Amino acid sequence: MAALLVLLAALCLISGVQSQPDSDVCTLHGPTVGPPLPVLPEKYMLKVEANIQGWNHTIEVIEFYDGVSNRGAVNNIWKGAVSQTVVSYTTEEIFHVGSDGSCRVEKVTASSFNIYGFQIVNGTAHIGNINDIFRFGAQYNETYMGQTTIRGIPANHWQSCLYQEEQGSTSLLDYYFTVANYSGAYGDREVPLRLELNGRAPNREFIHGKVVPSNGTHNYSHVYEFFDVQYHPEFPDRSFEPHLGVVCPGRKSPKPFPVIPDHFSVNYEMVSTERHNVFYARQAYNYKSKMSATYYTLLISGTPTKFHSLDDFNTGLTYQINLNNGSCNITPIGLAGGDASLAPDNVHVQIKDVANLLYLGIDDWQYQGLTKLREIDTESWIAKKLNYSSGNRPISNITVEFFFSTATWNTEGGLQNTSNMPVMAKYQWSEKKNGTEEMVNHNYIINFFHFEANNISTSHFDLSPCFSDDNSEELAFDIANKGAYSQYILNNTIEFYHGAQYSIAKAAAVTPTRVASLFAAKGSDGVTTVFFQLLGIPWVKGNAVNTTSQTPLDEAYMNLEDAVNSGQLRLDFKHKGEDVYVSPQSNSLRTEFTFDEPDDEASSFSVGTFIGFGFGMFILGGLLCAGIVFVIRKKMVEPSVPYNVQS
Ligand SMILES: *[C@@H]1O[C@H](CO)[C@@H](O)[C@H](O)[C@H]1NC(C)=O
Ligand SMILES: *[C@@H]1O[C@H](CO)[C@@H](O)[C@H](O)[C@H]1NC(C)=O
Ligand SMILES: *[C@@H]1O[C@H](CO)[C@@H](O)[C@H](O)[C@H]1NC(C)=O
Ligand SMILES: *[C@@H]1O[C@H](CO)[C@@H](O)[C@H](O)[C@H]1NC(C)=O
Ligand SMILES: *[C@@H]1O[C@H](CO)[C@@H](O)[C@H](O)[C@H]1NC(C)=O
Ligand SMILES: *[C@@H]1O[C@H](CO)[C@@H](O)[C@H](O)[C@H]1NC(C)=O
Repeated sequence: MAALLVLLAALCLISGVQSQPDSDVCTLHGPTVGPPLPVLPEKYMLKVEANIQGWNHTIEVIEFYDGVSNRGAVNNIWKGAVSQTVVSYTTEEIFHVGSDGSCRVEKVTASSFNIYGFQIVNGTAHIGNINDIFRFGAQYNETYMGQTTIRGIPANHWQSCLYQEEQGSTSLLDYYFTVANYSGAYGDREVPLRLELNGRAPNREFIHGKVVPSNGTHNYSHVYEFFDVQYHPEFPDRSFEPHLGVVCPGRKSPKPFPVIPDHFSVNYEMVSTERHNVFYARQAYNYKSKMSATYYTLLISGTPTKFHSLDDFNTGLTYQINLNNGSCNITPIGLAGGDASLAPDNVHVQIKDVANLLYLGIDDWQYQGLTKLREIDTESWIAKKLNYSSGNRPISNITVEFFFSTATWNTEGGLQNTSNMPVMAKYQWSEKKNGTEEMVNHNYIINFFHFEANNISTSHFDLSPCFSDDNSEELAFDIANKGAYSQYILNNTIEFYHGAQYSIAKAAAVTPTRVASLFAAKGSDGVTTVFFQLLGIPWVKGNAVNTTSQTPLDEAYMNLEDAVNSGQLRLDFKHKGEDVYVSPQSNSLRTEFTFDEPDDEASSFSVGTFIGFGFGMFILGGLLCAGIVFVIRKKMVEPSVPYNVQS
């Protein structure tokens, strides 16, 4: 029936014609007596097959009408193409989505034409009244014409005469509904079966961009067959939204893009639909401490080899630790890894902020509404970035979609509940095939798992495997407060290690990443001891913007000893959201130590024992941005990168 309106509008668009109803077609009359009219629903879903004389093709329309939630949409199918029209009354927009995925946005107003009409209810825009949409109801002075049979179905027949003054058209409408005791396939009664529309209108011509009246009249004849009629529909997901992946330029976004914290750890699965492959990765990222770490497995000489790769932007160095054999490659951070961008000086690298890391720095997102992914309720945003280029990839337009769980969902797996977790990202672009004009489409989908936005473990950024015994110092000190362990550290280790790392680094005048392998334990004597490694200066020249001038190891050690003995070292950290601190016992800093475990099993303790705790997952990548796969492939071919040894 909405289709009817479309076509009526197509027939008209003429103004200033003064004419009368055409009595050869039908005569207007007042109400007539007959059986009660079928009651039209507040919601429906149906299909219409429209056949218009002279058009030489059928149009099929799927209509979605929801007067309760104030929304309407149609899918139009003709000549093998499906297009979509969605009317959003809340934002007063209408979206026309072409079968090629293009989208045009128009404003919905009382005067502009729109398939579902327009009315103001309580001061806000509202979908049209159902009787007006159907052009059926008591106000149309229906005449009962008796029972007949339509497609083998017993039907009641009503007739009305419709005069549309603006177009000067007169139409005879013959409506057929199932009889009251006949049930449609979906159990609904008195549903529409057919509308025949026959009429006459003055001719008009399209001259110089304007529709103008011309001499004479023409007849028209339409038949609409209604089927699949549902008065209690379960609307398929996204019936009232443009399809996922459609960018509608200029569309209002009723919801802002969520804020992603600037420190998180996340597992992800990267799916390439073209290559039919899936990569797994885990990434830990901390913008403030300028560290990013990834876990991945590469096949090297046929052996799956696990790597933990750390990018320390404080120094501009990548530490690639081979977890199979413990070896470590140190190289300047390159731009290819996905987490680095060129610094303003065009020479050095800097860590990407979260927006550039995850979504190419885009800020004009369009809200796409709700979708279920992996049975999780998500909402998504879409954006198109024009002329995007990364590294030496050719420039292309890239479409990015980001899906987040809704605020009603949270994770319990992390340290604290987190809502608005990233669930999926999609990157889509096309590129010219090497040396040809042929365009190739690329699609990458990243599924995110186990997103944690709270303080992420310092173990992800532990550089100690890369430092030999003579370029590092294993150290320990005791905490003065005997009850500190149970009071502040137990169940709060991540916060404690973060705070302790920063405090110790500050006292030693080194970058936090040179304080590694932090571990706190309560000995059998009840004393809390903090073990850690103080690392030397990396022997490779970094590629950071401001390579922090580095304090030599022995000087760092002396700084720390002074701070402990003078009582100036305070380990500041958060506990249950409050800022708290504990202080080391004076003179307890030492390089030789044993550790008595509370279960009385005295054991010689090496900090190295704790290296790698928490590294349970082995992941691929580093690479939350499009173009990633190129990097991985390059690394696979050429696993060892030449050292850039400082002279
Ligand atoms: C229906 O009948 C009433 C009363 O005669 C008249 O005012 C009204 O214009 C008619 N409506 C239509 C659509 O013909
Ligand atoms: C439909 O077909 C008829 C007969 O072949 C032709 O005269 C007419 O122009 C066609 N109409 C359209 C809209 O193509
Ligand atoms: C309009 O407002 C009135 C009075 O507040 C209320 O009773 C009515 O339900 C509202 N109608 C709609 C469609 O919201
Ligand atoms: C309409 O008819 C009149 C009189 O027959 C003629 O003068 C005029 O040119 C016609 N107009 C058009 C647009 O054909
Ligand atoms: C990117 O989109 C713009 C605007 O739609 C278009 O003019 C341009 O040709 C596109 N570029 C590529 C490489 O497809
Ligand atoms: C710490 O966690 C353990 C086990 O998860 C629990 O039994 C204990 O009560 C917690 N202690 C405190 C002080 O919250």
